[in-house]
Amino acid sequence: MKTPMKQRRDMSPLIATQKISRLARKDIDRRLAVCPSLPSLSSINKALQGLLQAEQRYSSHISEIVRRDPSLTSRLLRLVNSVYYGLSTPVSSIEEAVFYLGVRQIRQLTTVTPIIEDFQRLSRQCVFPWRQFWQHCIGTAILTREVITMAQTPVDESDYVAGLVHDVGKIIMAWSFPDHFSEIHRQAELGQRNLVEIENEILGIDHAELGALYLERHRLPELMVHAVRFHHRPEAAVDHQLIIASVQIADLLMRNAKIGHSGNYVEVTQEQCLQASGWGILFPNMHEADQAIARASFNRSLERLPHILEGLV
Ligand SMILES: [Fe+2]
Ligand SMILES: [Fe+2]
Repeated sequence: MKTPMKQRRDMSPLIATQKISRLARKDIDRRLAVCPSLPSLSSINKALQGLLQAEQRYSSHISEIVRRDPSLTSRLLRLVNSVYYGLSTPVSSIEEAVFYLGVRQIRQLTTVTPIIEDFQRLSRQCVFPWRQFWQHCIGTAILTREVITMAQTPVDESDYVAGLVHDVGKIIMAWSFPDHFSEIHRQAELGQRNLVEIENEILGIDHAELGALYLERHRLPELMVHAVRFHHRPEAAVDHQLIIASVQIADLLMRNAKIGHSGNYVEVTQEQCLQASGWGILFPNMHEADQAIARASFNRSLERLPHILEGLV
């Protein structure tokens, strides 16, 4: 999809009129320091702790929690009605939605809603296919869970949140460096070069490193920082490799299926998903027959995803 990029008028009037030049790290740090902290970032920690609470306890309070938040309520009803679009009478009560979706999906929804809304406010300034971008992020979160489940049983929801925020650097880039961001995406749209390469060339830093620096600055858990920094090269991560590898594979699967839009226009083939470093980390020595089973399972999830995403963003 080709979306014309427009530059933000109120930012950086100096560089808007002259050639955009690559920035030194100290200039990048200086602008990053004024990028606002978002309330939902601190709630990620809280949410993660909250998610570990006994399912039963949460389940009894869930309708009450959802009811207090009108935006969550409407998102939830939209989600259940688009996932179960065949229902003769659309779902209109929270209790019914909880029944259809199950506690886990609602728990995930309560985590993602404030994060998405916060970041949407931040990104509004730059013209970019943000709605498709969020579909890419949420889809990657859902698939990260599916991918990691094939390798081990997840202990909490941190894999899901890691998948959700993996491309946060793109939002930070749009806010902090709108002119660079516009130029980067003008070039990315040509579909000839990888986004990371273009970002490094034009801005002097890529979205993975920028996102990690931002999360570090706002004291997010180390896992989130590492997942963002290494999501394109999990082999370089020292800790949390399985989760980061799952994010890489989920991201590639989303791009291969062309669901949502990551801002990277270079196409990804099925073979590239299987040959990615993360696949080897997750499934070393996997036989061909098992690879086919895994791929079929991911394909089934990918088929369901557009309905889910339609209801969420
Ligand atoms: Fe990325
Ligand atoms: Fe991505």
